[in-house]
Amino acid sequence: MKILMATSEAVPFAKTGGLADAVSALSLALAKLGHEVKIVLPRYYAISKEKLTLLKGELGVPVGGFEEWCAVYKTTLPGSDVKNPIETYFIDHEIFFGRDGVYGTPFEPDFIDNPRRFTFLSRAVFQLCHKINWFPNVLHSHDWPTALVPVYLKYALRNGPFEKTVSILTIHNLGYQGVYHKDNFHYTGLGWNVYYEGGFEDWNMMNMLKAGIYSADRLNTVSETYCAETMMQEHGFRLDGPLRYRNADYRGILNGVDTDVWNPAKDNYIPKQYSVDDLSGKAAAKAELQKSFGLQINPDVPVIGMITRLTGQKGVGEVFGPGYGSAFSMCRDMKLDFIVLGSGEAWCEHELRGLSSRLSNFRAIIGYSESISHLIEAGSDFFLMPSRYEPCGLNQMYSLLYGTPPIVRRTGGLVDTVTNFNEETGEGTGFMFDDLTPHAVYNTVGWALWAYYNRPKEIAAMRKRGMKQDFSWAYSAKKYLDMYNDAGAKEGSAAPRKQIKAAQPETSKITTKQASPPESSAKPSTRRQKGRN
Ligand code: ADP
Ligand code: GLC
Repeated sequence: MKILMATSEAVPFAKTGGLADAVSALSLALAKLGHEVKIVLPRYYAISKEKLTLLKGELGVPVGGFEEWCAVYKTTLPGSDVKNPIETYFIDHEIFFGRDGVYGTPFEPDFIDNPRRFTFLSRAVFQLCHKINWFPNVLHSHDWPTALVPVYLKYALRNGPFEKTVSILTIHNLGYQGVYHKDNFHYTGLGWNVYYEGGFEDWNMMNMLKAGIYSADRLNTVSETYCAETMMQEHGFRLDGPLRYRNADYRGILNGVDTDVWNPAKDNYIPKQYSVDDLSGKAAAKAELQKSFGLQINPDVPVIGMITRLTGQKGVGEVFGPGYGSAFSMCRDMKLDFIVLGSGEAWCEHELRGLSSRLSNFRAIIGYSESISHLIEAGSDFFLMPSRYEPCGLNQMYSLLYGTPPIVRRTGGLVDTVTNFNEETGEGTGFMFDDLTPHAVYNTVGWALWAYYNRPKEIAAMRKRGMKQDFSWAYSAKKYLDMYNDAGAKEGSAAPRKQIKAAQPETSKITTKQASPPESSAKPSTRRQKGRN
């Protein structure tokens, strides 16, 4: 099968979170199964042109009423097989992407022209296929930045070489929807009828993810539990109604782990590699971690680690806000070291710096570091992930594989990957709590420490049980293939017609009436425009 991943992030080129890991690892897994995969993303300023190849000629991309021009660069995704390389294409538009930041900067968290930047990217995907004369069976987009790919396919471009192409939209995080003023809609070049019929309309704003949900042939999110949660009010972010409407075409597929990158037996970022048969390297990593964070090297003091975007989704308000049960009281009341690596909301960065200077057993590094993140996974005794909601979560899986039992809230993908410690039987791979309150986090960290001191054999067995978990992408990649097939993406077969109308020119009127999905009963909340919008 020919599969084109349209994305705003992919490691190692651009990353703000797990989306980047997931896109590249899934692509590699699909290619390993023999499929022809290509990736397209913007060439952000930080992606150096030096190692890329410039394609001959420019790319003209029709947008509302005119054409934007860009260049296209190309390289091969590192780690892909020479016999079946994953060609990665970069859309190079100086004004849209030639600046720092993927979605924004600390000073401007959501660039004002993001609706244009990512509309342009989505439309450019089709032009790129023409340019390289390669037409995929599957156009697979990820989150709101490329959610207009299925919309263009359904309403304007499913003809000619795209006649048999199907569209897939993976929702990595429903909290970011790409909601902007509807004045931006004219830039899509689509007719206003599509604005309403295609699901853009959202309380008089333009919602890009919602339009993708209406149009994609098949949809998924990144764990089964989160899939069910998104169709309910609490975690549906007002799109629970449209997702229930697409229920038959919507599923959960758990992310995997790229074990070439996240594997203590191969990890070059840690002082000594280790495996389930010999954990001595884990003790070495702990000593190195304590040392590098300026803590006393003491194997007997348990280390709690955290690597996270500092946003409300990750429960940082409950842990780092003031009050009883917070990180502050944990560090004062319990014998532990607490280490955090993260960046995000200014208040939280400020608070973490303050805690680091006030407490002798708390250290935070504000920023982004691949190498430190590996050392924290390996050197910590427990990994804290108190997410308010978590579509899948990668860090808890990394922790399990590094023998670092996670302490997690019972939500989303955390439910599907961690099992709670059972004091009676000693079973379990981590520690779980239900309510996201400072108190619950405090109590559960306390419970883990109690087990650390009083049930060392069970904790040792728990570490090994975690390390033996299989989170291979091969398994998840097969589930994606099932979804592609289900959408009708077989070479030679026609695309399914169930949700799809005949191709229309981009400006033409679409008059056929379509059933409107029920809107969520939830009142519109304030626009979510932080970071990834
Ligand atoms: P999300 O995508 O919601 O942020 P995930 O757990 O799916 O959460 O993925 C987060 C990814 O980003 C992991 O690979 C994690 O190690 C990485 N990460 C997050 N913050 C940092 C940071 N400050 N430094 C290094 N890696 C980070
Ligand atoms: C999102 C989610 C996270 C998930 C990642 C990759 O950023 O917040 O839970 O693991 O995407 O799918």
